[in-house]
Amino acid sequence: MLYIKNVRFQQFKNYEQAQINLCEQVNCFVGKNGAGKTNVLDAIYYLSFTKSFFNTLDYQNIKHGKDYFSLQANYVKNSLEEHALLSYLKGKKTLKINNNDVKKFAEHIGDYPLVMIAPNDLLLLHEGSAERRKFMDGIIAQTDKFYLNDLLAYNRILEQRNKQLKLFAENNYLDDTLLDTYNKQLTDYGNKVHQKRLAFLQQFIPVFTQYYEKISTSQEQVSIAYESDLANNDLRTLLNQYLSSDIAAQRTNKGIHKDELDFKINNFAVKKFGSQGQQKSFIIALKLAQYEYLKQHNNIKPLLLLDDIFEKLDQQRLNTLLQMIAQEEFGQIFITDTHLNRLKEVFEGMPAVAINYYLVEQGNISKI
Ligand SMILES: Nc1ncnc2c1ncn2[C@@H]1O[C@H](COP(=O)(O)OP(=O)(O)OP(=O)(O)O)[C@@H](O)[C@H]1O
Ligand SMILES: [Mg+2]
Repeated sequence: MLYIKNVRFQQFKNYEQAQINLCEQVNCFVGKNGAGKTNVLDAIYYLSFTKSFFNTLDYQNIKHGKDYFSLQANYVKNSLEEHALLSYLKGKKTLKINNNDVKKFAEHIGDYPLVMIAPNDLLLLHEGSAERRKFMDGIIAQTDKFYLNDLLAYNRILEQRNKQLKLFAENNYLDDTLLDTYNKQLTDYGNKVHQKRLAFLQQFIPVFTQYYEKISTSQEQVSIAYESDLANNDLRTLLNQYLSSDIAAQRTNKGIHKDELDFKINNFAVKKFGSQGQQKSFIIALKLAQYEYLKQHNNIKPLLLLDDIFEKLDQQRLNTLLQMIAQEEFGQIFITDTHLNRLKEVFEGMPAVAINYYLVEQGNISKI
């Protein structure tokens, strides 16, 4: 079992200071637009991933006009208490677990597994392939400590190789030995990442299709296909083959950084041919499958963050989700909405579930 007992923010976004005691099951944050509800979820996200769900630049999360922020939380994980403290001061981010410095943030990822369902999730369907790789990588990294290291190593070498390709364009000289070293390293790391993505999808896709059937109202068939340059080719051979086009483009054309996930409904691209309802179902099914996968692999129920759930879900999909909550398929949940009554109505029929309601008003949080 994993849950957060309490969190404390200092100078995080619109909070000067706030402290919240949480309950083990459902925690609802209610307040007007711009009050700071999503910021609460982002703080919790930060402590799991050592970064914001929204702002990639840490300093943007410091309250305007201040010079640092800090986030603290007391977690209970398999009956053991753990204190996490993340702070950002003078361009330096530090994470302490039980007062010990975490030297490599990558090693922290997955310790507090988490799934976030947010209004901008549709980007996963509509943006480029990088979004879909990020989604897949985010899940695998939370279950496999080596994955992120391999991926980061691959990206580092890719960058160096691209730099060499650029240098060649400038002074017409190519260091063959260096290039070959890069090719070999890219192939080694690329193969590892590719194998892990393959193994992940093999398990993930059937879970995803099951959830889609559960939440969708109609009978359409959904599928996810994994497209990779490495599917039928050796990367090292490809890198050699494509050297002249790499030189012309001054970047590497083949590799796992080009992997794509093809999301389809009845064999057509969801983003072009899926209705709005089908797209919503697709996203929710992806997220629930993510939840299920993390739960199975970490042997613990992840934290579930639902931002603006009424924006995301119509009655049908909401009911399915609520049934799952009632059946305790989830652990601790954080929900935001603008209307208290709407939330209360929804949870009224579930007496067995522990629920806390909080009112969020301009950087101030109070229990209702
Ligand atoms: N670095 C920052 N310093 C101060 N305030 C910030 C900072 N970053 C964001 N904010 C403020 O936080 C507020 C937004 O908070 P948040 O997104 O959590 O609102 P919300 O309650 O989720 O609103 P909505 O219902 O519209 O989603 C805005 O008023 C914004 O100006
Ligand atoms: Mg919000």
